[in-house]
Amino acid sequence: MKVLVADKFEKSGIDGLTGIGCEVMYRPELSDQALAEAIESNGVQALVVRSTKVTAAMLSSSLRMIVRAGAGVNTIDVKAATAKGVVVANCPGKNSIAVAELVFGLILALDRRIPDNVADLRAGKWNKKEYAKARGLFGCPIGLLGFGSIGREIAKRAAAFGMPVVAWDKIFGAEDRGLTAAEARMFGLEIAVQQVPITLAPSAEEVAARVQILSIHLPFAPDTKGLVNAAVLGQLGPGSYLINTSRGEIVDQDALRAAIRDRHLRVGLDVFAAEPSAATGEFTDPIVQEAGVYGTHHIVASTDQAQEAIALETVRIIKQFRETGVAPNAVNA
Ligand code: MLT
Repeated sequence: MKVLVADKFEKSGIDGLTGIGCEVMYRPELSDQALAEAIESNGVQALVVRSTKVTAAMLSSSLRMIVRAGAGVNTIDVKAATAKGVVVANCPGKNSIAVAELVFGLILALDRRIPDNVADLRAGKWNKKEYAKARGLFGCPIGLLGFGSIGREIAKRAAAFGMPVVAWDKIFGAEDRGLTAAEARMFGLEIAVQQVPITLAPSAEEVAARVQILSIHLPFAPDTKGLVNAAVLGQLGPGSYLINTSRGEIVDQDALRAAIRDRHLRVGLDVFAAEPSAATGEFTDPIVQEAGVYGTHHIVASTDQAQEAIALETVRIIKQFRETGVAPNAVNA
């Protein structure tokens, strides 16, 4: 099988694909027209991407599958792929721990204002007076929009910090109750529920009304676009923290800017509505200039551990597809 990898990818993944007999082209620099041409002229059968956009123009007659070496498939034209019979598969759950780790990095950074501390020290300023104020996390409820594998990894870490968890996920509908013992067992949260209450709330608004920290872990889809709107943000108390490591478009950007200015929300963002798909480039989104915002460069899954796991999963998906014609984790099966 001819595989084109059009993004940065672990060596173990390239070796794994070669090991199962694939002919691998590693061309992380390709995008847009150049990528379309490379797929067409090389008769590529499987395309592996991370953030590189996959458009309808790239769906050549030879292409049989696209693997998203990550979770979100919003950068792939899945509708066009489905129409052409091209399977799109992803690697869900493989970066959940990495995401949970960055979420806590952002929460701690917001609570102690670590980036501002660093900036002042680098500017030659000692200001213990200003920075010796922080709320502290113990006992502080955290809300999770989305309670899939990422939400659950966050819940485990929240329990270790002594932070009660309130979650909403459409799989639970509008239920308002504590997690049952059976669910806790199924989700690997038996120890967490002994440490803190884990509650399911009936809506995103209701979660926001009950917490001081709100973290978003939903896939980007038509029904989640702008889901975190003025009504949800309006439920958060003044000075609350919002973390978004999912997709920028899930948060209404105007409502977010208003909440930062009017109610002093502090915000940790790893994703932005208009972020570049290339690894480097200009970035001028005004939201990162807001004093209460700490931004990172969509690095949420970028730990060696997560990337190794994703590389292995990509090899598994392609191997199984080649052997059986059925791709694990197909999103358009
Ligand atoms: C994902 O969808 O897997 C994450 O946002 C990380 C990434 O895009 O690399």
